[in-house]
Amino acid sequence: AGGQPRGVIEPATLVAIQRATGLLRAGELVGMPTETVYGLAADALNPEAVRRIFAAKGRPADHPVIVHLPGADHLPRWAASIPRDALALANAFWPGPLTLILKRAPGVPDEVTGGQDTVGVRVPAHSVALALLQVFGSGIAAPSANRFGRISPTTAAHVQEELGGQVAMILDGGACPLGIESTIVDFSRDVPEILRPGAVTADDIARIIGRRPRVRGEAAQGVPSHEVTASTADASGTPRVSGALAAHYAPRTPLRLIDPALLAAEAAGLAAAGSRVAVLAIAVDDPGDARLTWLGASAQPSEYAHDLYASLRALDALGADFILVETPPPAPAWTAVADRLGRAAAGSGEDDET
Ligand code: TXA
Ligand code: MG
Repeated sequence: AGGQPRGVIEPATLVAIQRATGLLRAGELVGMPTETVYGLAADALNPEAVRRIFAAKGRPADHPVIVHLPGADHLPRWAASIPRDALALANAFWPGPLTLILKRAPGVPDEVTGGQDTVGVRVPAHSVALALLQVFGSGIAAPSANRFGRISPTTAAHVQEELGGQVAMILDGGACPLGIESTIVDFSRDVPEILRPGAVTADDIARIIGRRPRVRGEAAQGVPSHEVTASTADASGTPRVSGALAAHYAPRTPLRLIDPALLAAEAAGLAAAGSRVAVLAIAVDDPGDARLTWLGASAQPSEYAHDLYASLRALDALGADFILVETPPPAPAWTAVADRLGRAAAGSGEDDET
């Protein structure tokens, strides 16, 4: 064994990539690994194939999907104009977990943009995704490969669980190195605005473009973002971002975020009242209470993010009455994780129909 250099593709994987390319060209759906989460991929220039994505996910048809590109040199085909700062971010962070919202070019299907005048584009930093994009040679539309509103998949097995019956094949690229979705920055309006936080932070962006981007939901009143963006579009014409819905990334088990100081007592209280309780802790030690399922998570934010969705899936599968999650520290490095946990709490405990 001994592995192989990073970025080198094994022959068997290349064969799978060739097969995936043929399926995409035939209008089929393919599960695709990226460095963030697995995507549900379709040919972005084939409207019928993109419509299949919505049907498979159970996602409303007016939600736009991200177009994945082999490189920034493909931008002119998709974007009508590329602001200088957007190009600077592409140069700094691509391939990588950054999605740019730009004015769409003519010819980008309405199915991709949700009928809006903008398009979301990114170049993923994953050797299998990049090889697929290079062989395919064009844009690949791919939302996260989960059913609408549910926990994003970070392994091929998760994609199989979520959408196994709906995809022609799943390209297995191992566990996603980052584990949460890309940062989305909207360049279609007067000032750049982060619509969804991710591994590329507001500070990272400020360092490149020399000013801090606006951050969606970072309201002057200090209202948590998951309480602000409850609707799919607002009166100001803000683009629809399903990843910004209040209820998203959600387990079926009711999930509550609990302050570290109160976590152990809250868990013990619920257990004493007869509830089955699962806990995802960071700093709070396992009290050794046999009535509780206590899962420790990393105190390091990128490691926590890497494991987050797999942990939520595992906790959800226990069939407990409650999942209690220790509120992460209020530091910038935890922003993206805190965002996903807030939405997971808001959307938890609901049936598929709601
Ligand atoms: O990391 C990621 O971004 C992953 C991987 C697969 O690349 N993809 C992903 O896709 O998270 P999805 O569809 O689950 O979330 C993409 C978000 C959605 O909330 C969508 O509304 C938003 O991007 N989006 C896409 N195009 C947009 C546009 N033109 N304007 C505003 N939001 C857009
Ligand atoms: Mg998603």
